Amino acid sequence: MNLPTYKIAVIPGDGIGPEVIAEGIKVLNKAAELSGRFAFVFQTFPWGCEYYLRHGRMMAEDGMEQLRAFDAIYLGAVGYPGVPDHVSLWDLLLKIRKQFDQYVNIRPITLLRGVPCPLKDVPREAIDMLFIRENSEGEYAGAGDWLYRGKPEEVVLQTGVFSRKGTERIIRYAFETARRMGKSLTSISKGNALNYSMVFWDQVFAEVAAEYPDVPTASYLVDAASMFMIKDPGRFEVVVTSNLFGDILTDLGAALAGGLGLAAGANINPERAWPSMFEPIHGSAPDIAGKGVANPLAAIWSASQLLEFFGHDEWANMVLQAMECVLVERAVLTPDMHGTATTSEVGDSVVQQLTSLVKQ
Ligand code: NAD
Ligand code: IPM
Ligand code: MN
Repeated sequence: MNLPTYKIAVIPGDGIGPEVIAEGIKVLNKAAELSGRFAFVFQTFPWGCEYYLRHGRMMAEDGMEQLRAFDAIYLGAVGYPGVPDHVSLWDLLLKIRKQFDQYVNIRPITLLRGVPCPLKDVPREAIDMLFIRENSEGEYAGAGDWLYRGKPEEVVLQTGVFSRKGTERIIRYAFETARRMGKSLTSISKGNALNYSMVFWDQVFAEVAAEYPDVPTASYLVDAASMFMIKDPGRFEVVVTSNLFGDILTDLGAALAGGLGLAAGANINPERAWPSMFEPIHGSAPDIAGKGVANPLAAIWSASQLLEFFGHDEWANMVLQAMECVLVERAVLTPDMHGTATTSEVGDSVVQQLTSLVKQ
């Protein structure tokens, strides 16, 4: 029998990256086995900060060529004390996002059952947002200069780049998503102070909105949006925002939905011309690395996003349900969720719950 077999490049990376990715792979393999309808082959790449210290680079010289051959990339975390963050991130994570034109970063902020609600007087259902972060340009364009370095007249420039193509495609993607889900779309920007980039962003949002009269819209300044995310999170359904604002607001969102140990992200090239990449949104967590206590649920949630990307929505949902069972029982949780379990015990528990969901 010829099962569709997905070739996944695994980059466990630094710190807790390898610890959490191992659990995501367990869950993906179990979903494949239980389904009997698809399979995975994983190939692991030892790239990251340790590799850098040995080879003077974050990935192999032909690393991008090697990755091209895969259907998707599953990544843990990048960055560790000893290698400057701007070097490690620009030579690995950001390089992949940019060169593979993964211009959509999808970050669900949903308070799952079993996770305590951190807000007083806010019902659980109010925390259910889908962030769509621009992932290829904007404040992360890497354009700038460093003049008269070390001199009294030193000047640094960091230029935001908002192209017509880049701005329009992310906003259009968000409208399509909101329409498909039957939800509203909120744009978050900062046109009052950023008098070129964000005025342009707001203009493009209004233009594209005219093509989607069926999608209710809202538009907030990023400062007010941060306040409303805490005071009245129910306002937000699908959200579209720029690269930097999306980075910051989704850590805030993670705090609403159980912490960084639960926050997942997918870096998507919608045209599928290049591999897409799935990763937890947290970093390498040097403060807890090597102790076996990192929460693997963020990595497992991004594995669920990977299943959805390949069209296995039913299995993607089942993985989320299995996670919810673990969260509701509260018997096997890592210390960040006030439990005493290890990373691999939580992974095993999700696998067990998945198995019993299927048997039911
Ligand atoms: P971080 O996300 O690594 O950690 C922030 C805090 O959250 C820490 O206290 C950490 O212990 C906790 N935490 C994070 N993930 C957790 C998990 N799965 N389970 C339990 N607790 C968890 O952010 P940081 O400390 O600002 O950055 C550390 C390094 O990671 C830096 O080098 C940074 O550049 C890098 N980073 C990488 C990524 C990525 O690869 N996508 C994302 C963010 C930061
Ligand atoms: C994230 C991370 C990255 C980002 C860093 C590590 C470059 O914080 O994925 O949220 O800012 O995009
Ligand atoms: Mn971030």
